[in-house]
Amino acid sequence: MPPLVTVPKILASKHRQRLVMITAYDAPTARWAENAGADILLVGDSLAMVVLGHDTTLAVTMDEMLHHARAVMRAQSHCLVVGDLPFGTYQDSVQAAVHAGVRYLKEGGVHAVKLEGAWPDRVEALVAAGVPVMGHLGLTPQSVHAFGGYRVQGTTAEAARTLIENARDLEAAGCFSLVLEGVPAEVATEVTKAVTIPTIGIGAGPDCDGQVLVIHDLLGMSPPPRPRFVTPYALLGEAAEAAIARWASDVREGRVPTGAQSYHLTGETAVAWQQIVKGGV
Ligand code: KIV
Repeated sequence: MPPLVTVPKILASKHRQRLVMITAYDAPTARWAENAGADILLVGDSLAMVVLGHDTTLAVTMDEMLHHARAVMRAQSHCLVVGDLPFGTYQDSVQAAVHAGVRYLKEGGVHAVKLEGAWPDRVEALVAAGVPVMGHLGLTPQSVHAFGGYRVQGTTAEAARTLIENARDLEAAGCFSLVLEGVPAEVATEVTKAVTIPTIGIGAGPDCDGQVLVIHDLLGMSPPPRPRFVTPYALLGEAAEAAIARWASDVREGRVPTGAQSYHLTGETAVAWQQIVKGGV
């Protein structure tokens, strides 16, 4: 079913409405984000780290991304859902990129894909094949080893100029929006002015056309240290541990389950069972 938030609506939102995008990896996170009024759900490859326990995003496979995308799509009703192309699925060739993008829409059911870096030829081919593409520039986590760590990008005048050029190239290639991650706010402001597609920032200051966060960071489910742009709006990790500890103590002390929380035999079956028990089971 087509979403209520569509690619043309996202394009038209520039200068009108700030976009809210949040990651979702399964049915509950998708439901929470939709009910809370998000515009876009991103099945991010951050899945590798916050759900699957890897140190970086590099290890997650296309099959794993599809597995989670399907779970999100079962809960989705109106948001635009974007699937992150995992590392290694689009770098090889234009054909590989189109194959992965088509697979995402066909087998995962998502409405669009996102890819990291300046790959205008991949974007052009995907868009020509009918796959809407969100770009992603700046601190692109799949390049963590090339960057020598999670380092803010675009910090020199030359790097900032390249960032703006790359953003223009991605727009010309057909991207419908652009994530800017880990870049100085002053640079993100100029990138946002330089393109007519909406920019969606994460650690890129207040002037982007929208913001995105990893849901585990927003809800306080990832352990510290937290990046400076993350203020948890809940502490679900702590709340979950406290709840489990309370239940564990109730189990150990024999406080649960109570009689009221148990199923019971009734009527003739209960009487018959008493007789059987008396006679020895
Ligand atoms: O994978 C992800 O969660 C992302 C966002 C941080 C933009 O790419």
